[in-house]
Amino acid sequence: MKIGILTGGGDCPGLNPVIRAVVRAAMNDSSEVVGIKYGWKGLLEKDCMPLDLRSISGILPRGGTILGTSRTNPYKKENGVETAKKNFKELGLDALIAVGGEDTLGVATKLFKDGLNTVGVPKTIDNDLGATDFTFGFDTAANIVMECIDRLHTTAESHNRIMVVEVMGRHAGWIAAYSGIAGGADYILVPEIPIDLGELCSSIKKRHERGKNFSIIVVSEGAAFKDKDLQLQEQKLDEFGHVRLGGIGEMLGKLIEEKTGYETRVTVLGHIQRGGSPTAFDRVLGTRFGVKAYELVKAKKFGKMVSLKGNEIVDVSLEEATRALRTLDPKLYDIAKIFFG
Ligand code: F6P
Repeated sequence: MKIGILTGGGDCPGLNPVIRAVVRAAMNDSSEVVGIKYGWKGLLEKDCMPLDLRSISGILPRGGTILGTSRTNPYKKENGVETAKKNFKELGLDALIAVGGEDTLGVATKLFKDGLNTVGVPKTIDNDLGATDFTFGFDTAANIVMECIDRLHTTAESHNRIMVVEVMGRHAGWIAAYSGIAGGADYILVPEIPIDLGELCSSIKKRHERGKNFSIIVVSEGAAFKDKDLQLQEQKLDEFGHVRLGGIGEMLGKLIEEKTGYETRVTVLGHIQRGGSPTAFDRVLGTRFGVKAYELVKAKKFGKMVSLKGNEIVDVSLEEATRALRTLDPKLYDIAKIFFG
């Protein structure tokens, strides 16, 4: 068999372990794997690289993706779908494994319906894909943020300051909630719940009145005030209709200082959260996903996505997986709230 593999959307730690696992599992069966570069862009331009033992050597601990990535959407390009189908055929592919988040897998779902043999692998640091308990990349990101919160604690404490930490999370507050709970945040703001400034400031004041001289506030980039627009870096939309978020931390920092009178500083963690080496959890999850994706191709089970359910790797339909985003579990936020103030 000849199998194509591509990585699309925002990169995340764990992509290379998936690529390595697909190649190793395929090679054991004497199947061939071709890397398609820069996500769907590579399929449209027939930009490929052969993947063999040499090309995957040493990539397990490396962040990012050796294939490169992009946010190209074939359904937004003139003749995009026809070109994708033509190139799939001309490359002699039997199947295509798409590793990505809601957008990349949304395209894989549509292409499957349009006749291509696709299999999906879920990735995103945001952990917001439906039909899987976790996506790889999330654990690494949450650990990086936790370490940053630990570091912010010591400087906040020394200066009697409020520290606002803006983290990634476009539609879901998984990173904020996990890292906030793990790092002992004093308040966590997520996209799922509108920001209540009065409640936040009175919680900070209460904490300071009982003798604490600093506070750590974690805010997702996608969090917003009720009836107010999201904070954006620019108005431009990408090919999947997404804006560039960012700025809620700065806005909040000013408001908190104004309302409480406590000196406030803001840290925006940005792409630090997506870079670097994957944790053991993400390396193992990526490896298990890669092996399962190959098994699905071998069994000709197309239109499927690999998924973690409990501790089992199973397959679900791509359609089901991309139907709705998985937002933060309110039960987890209830646990976080116990430690507010
Ligand atoms: O989807 C993952 C993500 O990291 C989001 O949390 C964030 O909003 C977005 O990607 C940033 O994308 P880019 O790297 O294109 O600015």
